[in-house]
Amino acid sequence: MTDISRQLQPHVTRLASVDLGALVREGGARDSALQWQAGPVRLDARHQRLDTKAIDALFALVEAARLDDARAALFGGDIVNPTEQRPALHTALRDASAPKDRDLAGRIEAARSRTAAFSNACRAENALQASGEISGKPVRRIINIGIGGSDLGPRLVYSALKAYRREGIDLRFVSNLDPADLEDAIEGADPETTLICITSKSFTTSETLMNAGAARDWLAAALGKEAANARIAAATAAPDRATDFGIAPERIFPFEDGVGGRYSLWSAAGLCLEIALGPEVFSRLLDGARQMDAHFSAAPVKQNLPLAKALIDVWNRAGRGLPARCVAAYSSRLELLPAYLQQLEMESLGKSVGLDGAALPPRSGGQLVWGGKGSDIQHSFFQWLHQGVDEVPVDFIAVAALYAKGDARAKALGANLVAQSAALLDGHTGEGPLAAHKTLPGGRASSVITLERLDPEGLGALIALHEHKVFCEGLIYGLNPFDQWGVELGKLLTKDLLSGNHSRFDAASLDLARLFRL
Ligand code: F6P
Repeated sequence: MTDISRQLQPHVTRLASVDLGALVREGGARDSALQWQAGPVRLDARHQRLDTKAIDALFALVEAARLDDARAALFGGDIVNPTEQRPALHTALRDASAPKDRDLAGRIEAARSRTAAFSNACRAENALQASGEISGKPVRRIINIGIGGSDLGPRLVYSALKAYRREGIDLRFVSNLDPADLEDAIEGADPETTLICITSKSFTTSETLMNAGAARDWLAAALGKEAANARIAAATAAPDRATDFGIAPERIFPFEDGVGGRYSLWSAAGLCLEIALGPEVFSRLLDGARQMDAHFSAAPVKQNLPLAKALIDVWNRAGRGLPARCVAAYSSRLELLPAYLQQLEMESLGKSVGLDGAALPPRSGGQLVWGGKGSDIQHSFFQWLHQGVDEVPVDFIAVAALYAKGDARAKALGANLVAQSAALLDGHTGEGPLAAHKTLPGGRASSVITLERLDPEGLGALIALHEHKVFCEGLIYGLNPFDQWGVELGKLLTKDLLSGNHSRFDAASLDLARLFRL
């Protein structure tokens, strides 16, 4: 048992057999202690198995975590990622005034004005002239090639803010090595009016480089090498490698090494978004995130939304011993949020070693995050959530303006969300000969995170809320949420196989390798 688990145990035991529905209906001080608001985002955690004493115990964990110092280090641009000796500069991309590095603000502003100017040029009708191509044709399709943080963030934002996209410009994403991924992205595209954005912090990721090479071949086969190169841009923290790849310096858009891949969408890694949605919409996204940053750094502990969300997840993970969490986004446009949060949380918090190098105790580190789009998921895995043996707390993601806009289907979508949360809470006692089969145990925890409306500011705030939540969890568990050493071994083994070095593989692996002609 962790120290955290031990501290929470009396409260967990006290609340374990309490009727959750009855607890929720007590209202009073519990009601106000379990609701938080920051700008356009609201968290309602009244359906969590928590009472005011347990909430106080959770907030007491923060004292040991030295939140003030940690926040100051994050916003001040100090090294908060000691295993890679890097700061974490995603908040500086939203407001570069806080970091101690006085030159950083200048670099960030210069990078931003370059991407904005390039984006405006690409959005102009003679776009390709501006990018050095004499045909003067407009850009009609952008293809972002990247993976992990160089894909999931831009993909989520584009899907969520599609309503803001520039008519006539279509943005597609290629991340997977299956050739079908690129084939689908270029289907129906005219090479003459296509712009390829290669997004890779390291510019060494093999999936991205192989897909980028294939995309360049596609362009060159139709237009020749020179015209192909005029249609390729790169966003990277390794501009030299992009130059080696053959990209012209005027189309290489750098970002800081201290910006983590899964925190990079606010940087030049959002170039494809800036072109498709426009620099103004992109700025509004940054504004929304900056407002959440301001709340996170200034709000008192008990009113601090990202901190509260972190503590609730710690309660379920370390306290109640529930290792997973389901994210149910009741908005078609937010259907990629679960996949985005899966990388943000699981790559950041999927650690079993603390900052001091010692093994973390059981029930530490992040949760397994999975989910999907409501109400579709009600017809797939919600059966398991309602009647399965295990409890998995659910985060319902709601968009208030959507359900309230008077459209009957949108209204019904909101009703589905409320109904699911209530069904998890109260359950149902079945009757008749099949009573046992028709009984839902209830007493299953959930929270609702409500966005006022799905606009750039709201989305920016929602994403930043989760970034800071992850930061707080890292702090409480004493781990580094900014590295990801666990992903390296698989990369090395793939290289070995592709280069014919089979020495360290077992018989079953070698059978597969033979089957795949490796
Ligand atoms: O392999 C994991 C990872 O390093 C992620 O952290 C990152 O977002 C992704 O690969 C892509 O990396 P890059 O942007 O350097 O291509």
